[in-house]
This record gives sequence, structure tokens and C-alpha cells, in this order.
Amino acid sequence: MYNNKIINVFNKENVSSPPIWFLRQAGRHIPEYFSIRSQSKNFIDFCLNTDLIVQSTKLPLKYYNIDAAIVFSDILMIPWAMKRNVQFVKGVGPVMDPMIPNETEILNDIDIKNLLRPLDKALKILRSSVPNHVSLIGFAGAPWTLACYMIEGQSTKDFLLTRKAVWSSNNWFNKLIDSLIDYVVDILEMQANAGADVLMIFDSWAHMIPSFFWKDFGISPTKKIINNLRKRNILIPIIGFPFKAGSSLINYSYESGVDCLALDWTVDLKWALKNINPNIVIQGNLDPASLIDKNNNLDKSVKLILDTMNNKRHIFNVGHGLTPECKIENIKKVIEIVKNYNN
Ligand code: CP3
Repeated sequence: MYNNKIINVFNKENVSSPPIWFLRQAGRHIPEYFSIRSQSKNFIDFCLNTDLIVQSTKLPLKYYNIDAAIVFSDILMIPWAMKRNVQFVKGVGPVMDPMIPNETEILNDIDIKNLLRPLDKALKILRSSVPNHVSLIGFAGAPWTLACYMIEGQSTKDFLLTRKAVWSSNNWFNKLIDSLIDYVVDILEMQANAGADVLMIFDSWAHMIPSFFWKDFGISPTKKIINNLRKRNILIPIIGFPFKAGSSLINYSYESGVDCLALDWTVDLKWALKNINPNIVIQGNLDPASLIDKNNNLDKSVKLILDTMNNKRHIFNVGHGLTPECKIENIKKVIEIVKNYNN
């Protein structure tokens, strides 16, 4: 095990200032990203090219003094492997063939590890070439969020087709979730064995889960994923990110089995300290929009997060991915404030 700051926080060791990294740190806010991306014919090919995965994962390390690198891939590589014809359309985002509840066959015999071998290779290269003090983060989408994209075929306003499927196509929907659980376990296991130090599960559409089904689809799949990983002897820390889950964050923090809860930018950290399971680490939760224009509140808001989380187990991050408009100089400034913070 490498001695790095994020692992130290998980191990309850003292750190002088919190470790820091950024969600979507390897994306379009860095100009060089576009020249790396232009070397492949589309985004899926990019995510299947070992050399380009390595380059883009390392890209933010050239600019920032950060404590982690998240491997370059996408949560939608699982639907891609399940032959949903995933494409990334400029100006629209991801699109795929929508699944028709009760009608579409759910493929549950996909050799996902084999299909994502370039990711496995990239992580092995990364672990031997990224400095030891930088944690490597592997990830996957949570089954609910993957099911949302697979049923709607794209992002929609309120994911009505998915919510309808939950209420009316219980058996089929459960089968879909169960297959997704298996694939998520497989690719997280693969990433851990290839060298990831930490794993993260993104439930970006958690706020669409009806509260009646929160336990079934917000908590239980993650709990099963973590239990299965532990059974396979994958013991590294796991971060859960149920985006904008509001009051459901409390039960998630106690019941899902995650080692760290990533909070979105709407959560008041003082509320979190009172209500969230005190035995897990908290990650977050600066608003990425604060990193777009020059503004007088950036220093203050970063310091407020630091003061509130002082002496708590905390990983500094944004409360959702950096957008293409975020400015490198603003991000550098945040890192400087965090690194110079002395408690
Ligand atoms: O820097 C990193 O975080 C590493 C890699 C990463 C990407 N996607 C690369 C990417 C990670 C961790 C993800 C996760 C992901 N992908 C999530 C969960 C996090 C979240 O944002 O809630 C989701 C929902 C997706 C699905 C997805 N992929 C969407 C909705 C989009 C379009 C986004 C947009 O703003 O247009 C993508 C494409 C994508 N994935 C990009 C990147 C860098 C942009 C692609 C491009 O070059 O055009």
C-alpha cells in the first residue's frame, strides 16, 4: 500500500491539510484535452485506447498539485458493453438505444472485463508511472443511474420512463438492476486489481429515485456491490456519490457500506456533520460554478468548507464535475488555499 494522503485519511491518520482532487478534472476545461481527444474517432474509441486513457488521466497532474488522479473512462462503458449502441453526440451528450421495459432482452452474459481490457492495461501503466503520493481512483456508475440512461436513451428532465418502469415493470426492472450490479462489481474488481487505490460509485440520478423505493434502488444495489467486492477480497476504500439525494443521504451513509460519502454542492456541511454517519469520510463540496468567473466569494467559500471540516476526516473536492468553463487559474487558487491551510 502506498503512503498517500487520501489513504491516510481513510486510515484515520493525521494530515496537515485535507487531500484535494476534482471531479471531472481530466476534461474539457484543459485545452490540451482536445488534442488528446482528437486522436480517436469518437468518445467510445477514446475510452478504449490505453495510451489515450493514460495520457488524459495524467493531464491534470501537469497543471495541479492534487492528491488523486481518476482514471479516464465513462460510466456508460457498461451500457456500451451491453450493446446499447452508446454514442456521444456533440451538443446533446450521450445517447443510446432505449430499452423497452418487459420487451428488451437484458444481456447478462457479457464478458465485461474482456471488453474493457484497455482500461485494465491503462491502470497498470498508471500505477507504475504516477507518483506514489497520488491516489489512483477507479469508478463505475451506480445501477440506478445506468438504468436511467438505458431506459430513457439519453438524459431527460425527470426520467419519467424509468420511474414508470420502477412502479409497473418490477420484475424486469429488478433483473436489469441485478445484471448491472454484477457488471459493476466485475469492473470495479478489475480496476482494483489493476492498481486503483480507491473506488468511486457515481449515482448521478439518485435524486430521481422515488422515496418509496430509495432503499431498494438507492441503497441496496450499492450495498450488494460492496459486499460482493469484499467477498472477492477487494478491501480498498469506496466513495459513494448519490447526487442531490437530500434527506436520503442519512440512511445511505449508514446503510450502504461506503467508506466515504461525496456530497453535492447543495449540502450544508454543518448539517452533514450533525446527520451523516460520523464513522465515514466526507468528500466535497465546492460548487464548480464558483470556478468559472472571477469572484470575491471563492476564498471565503473555500475557507468556510475548511473551517467547518477542520479536524474531521475530509477530502476536498467539488460537489459535481468541473465544467468546460471552469478556469485553470481559479482551480490553482483553490488548491493553494487548501494546501496552505493549517489547523
Ligand atoms: O476527469 C474525470 O472525471 C474522468 C473521467 C470521467 C468522465 N465521465 C469523462 C467524460 C468520469 C468519472 C465520468 C463519469 C460520468 N459520465 C458520470 C458521473 C458523474 C456525473 O457527471 O454525474 C456521468 C453521468 C457520465 C455520463 C456522461 N459522459 C455524460 C452525461 C457526458 C456528457 C457530459 C457533457 O457535459 O457533455 C459524458 C461525456 C464525458 N465523459 C466527457 C468526459 C471528459 C466529455 C466528453 C467530450 O470530450 O465531449
